[in-house]
Amino acid sequence: MQVRVLPLSRWKGSEQSLVLLAAEGQPAPMGWKGGEASLKRLVALSRHESFAGRLGQVVILHPEGEDPARRVFLAGVGSLQILNPEVFRRAVAFACRAAARAGARGVSILFPERGDAAKIRRVAQALVEGAMLSQYRYAAYKTVAADPGSAPLDNVVILHPDDASGKDVGAGVAQGEVFCNAALLARDLVNEPPSALHPAKLAEKALKLGGRVRGKVHDQKTIERMGMGGIAGVGRGSANPPLLIQLRYQGSKPKARVALVGKGVTFDSGGLSLKPADSMETMKCDMAGAATVMAVMRAADQLKLPLLIDGYIPAVENMPSGTSLKPGDVVKMHNGRTVEVLNTDAEGRLILADTLAYAVKEKPDHVIDFATLTGAVIVALGPTVTGIMGNDKDLVNALLAAGETSGEPMWELPLVKDYAEGMKSRVADLRNIGPRREAGAIYGGLFLKEFVGTASWAHLDIAGTAFADKDGAYWPAGATGSPVRTIIQYLIKLAA
Ligand code: BES
Ligand code: MN
Ligand code: ZN
Repeated sequence: MQVRVLPLSRWKGSEQSLVLLAAEGQPAPMGWKGGEASLKRLVALSRHESFAGRLGQVVILHPEGEDPARRVFLAGVGSLQILNPEVFRRAVAFACRAAARAGARGVSILFPERGDAAKIRRVAQALVEGAMLSQYRYAAYKTVAADPGSAPLDNVVILHPDDASGKDVGAGVAQGEVFCNAALLARDLVNEPPSALHPAKLAEKALKLGGRVRGKVHDQKTIERMGMGGIAGVGRGSANPPLLIQLRYQGSKPKARVALVGKGVTFDSGGLSLKPADSMETMKCDMAGAATVMAVMRAADQLKLPLLIDGYIPAVENMPSGTSLKPGDVVKMHNGRTVEVLNTDAEGRLILADTLAYAVKEKPDHVIDFATLTGAVIVALGPTVTGIMGNDKDLVNALLAAGETSGEPMWELPLVKDYAEGMKSRVADLRNIGPRREAGAIYGGLFLKEFVGTASWAHLDIAGTAFADKDGAYWPAGATGSPVRTIIQYLIKLAA
């Protein structure tokens, strides 16, 4: 999608449909600059359509006749008391969806707010996010053109009032584009069919991120030589060998050193502990953590953040075969600890354990891992809240705040000390599953905690949030791109 910023004075008015936002009980659209007469007409028309300004409500008005290029999509933002970036994201998403459904190719959005520079930027970014994220489609494998009315908008113009705020609107728009392009890259990677995006293909794409993101790939032999029994073990059941992808972005005068670790299971059949058929349908999503690392690193480069970021992606296929790990097998991890694999479907923690142990050797200031780790986190928090755990309160709080800002909510789960007993094995140091069918997300976190030593660490279980069964506020069913924008937001604050 092309996004442009235009001062109101240079807008021709006849170019394309207009999106106006309005609050409950406030008849004038936000940011309205037109004359009294046209406002009266607009308000009368919106009354006629029973427009009440509720968030989610969009009415189509024709204040200047039937010319479709002069339609107005009037979208509600709800109460002025609870306006925040997420409200703008959603209101714009509703408006853009209505416009696309009505056959528009683009819309001009009137900038709705006034305020200080920070606020103007925040709102501008939210408008762009609502537009770009809501208009995403995964069409790589479509050979038949979309039905009229289901094609997305291909351009958006942000109309800003002709005053000093133009620079800040531009800055917010530019940042919004970087955030969205990163989230959309993650969506594309996750939506890709699993046989098209096997570990080697994922590695190829990681090495081609561009900019100052450099990378190298450790092959199966190296993984074995480095004593990474988790990655080697999970990978050995597949015809596609495992890889460990290592990326680095080095900004100038880095203020902090961060390690990002992403689960890269390009397909999770469960292995010999085979999943039922319907649970496997969406298991191409099991590399969403890897996609997060790749997308965030590209954005960090585009934003030129003064940080040193190391990205680590263990890439494997979890498959059943004559060479697969068997329940009861014991593997030795990179840090020397042994793990009894009682369920081959708890494979994510095996590959992440090796990778975390490897990542902390570089002594980063913070380590954050992203993983579609447990079905249990979906039971606990549902499809739109990420489970976060960690050993550093400040890090967890900073990530929670970033999630709030980006509209990707997270909730902290406790790493209950007493439960660690439940991860002990009779024959090895640890087992890879908890003792009973309870607290599954927490047991996943507790297992990973054993491999980070004293590093400041947070774990995001994105099993529910990275992939959606149904269309959401600004994502179609499929990959959501979560938590990419949250992590970029966190890194910006860290670098500030
Ligand atoms: N990749 C799955 C978790 C998952 C479930 C992701 C649903 C996305 C949607 C993970 O590897 C897995 O299979 N976890 C097991 C762990 C169990 C065996 C301890 C699970 O959640 O059942
Ligand atoms: Mn699994
Ligand atoms: Zn998995």
